[in-house]
Amino acid sequence: MQADLERILFDEAAILRRLDEIAAQISNDYRDRELTVIAVLNGSLVFMSDLMRRIPLPLRLDCLSVASYHGRAETTGEVIFKQVALPDVVDRHILILDDILDSGQTLAAIREKLETAQPRSIRVCVLLQKKKERARPVDADYVGFEIEDEFVVGYGLDFMERYRNLPCIGVLRKELITQSN
Ligand code: IMP
Ligand code: MG
Repeated sequence: MQADLERILFDEAAILRRLDEIAAQISNDYRDRELTVIAVLNGSLVFMSDLMRRIPLPLRLDCLSVASYHGRAETTGEVIFKQVALPDVVDRHILILDDILDSGQTLAAIREKLETAQPRSIRVCVLLQKKKERARPVDADYVGFEIEDEFVVGYGLDFMERYRNLPCIGVLRKELITQSN
């Protein structure tokens, strides 16, 4: 699997070091509040599991299932809510976790939807943020790493549902993306 990477951006140790920092920041910001983490499936699963164990606060976990990619390397802009019932967010402090902020379509749609359900507050935390113009402006309150506009996989991120179990994050070799289109 690792041979399919053009280069490694962040190895496991670098990711975990950064998670220590973000978790400390989150723990400090929410120190007197009960936090509800809403993880966007499936990409944020690995990130969520490592991050939440570094936050020593009373915390609830919910997951949300959306799709925007349909197995391709470009976003279609269309966001489908696979889950009919939204998590109960009324009066709660919500922290949305996602793997990567790319076009912003997914997080903008999720944020908008959750805002209508009367949470007490909403913040967004992403592991990766691509440096680019976004179709929809989304401000992430916590960002693991800023990366160039390249297609990356590993540590939860997939290409056609593969590579999620790679312990590191790397740039997928371009010819592998073109071949399967
Ligand atoms: P957005 O709606 O364009 O911001 O895309 C969000 C979703 O697209 C993410 O949650 C990922 O699942 C997927 N995505 C965007 N860029 C990448 C990438 O470089 N590698 C893998 N998945 C990506
Ligand atoms: Mg994906």
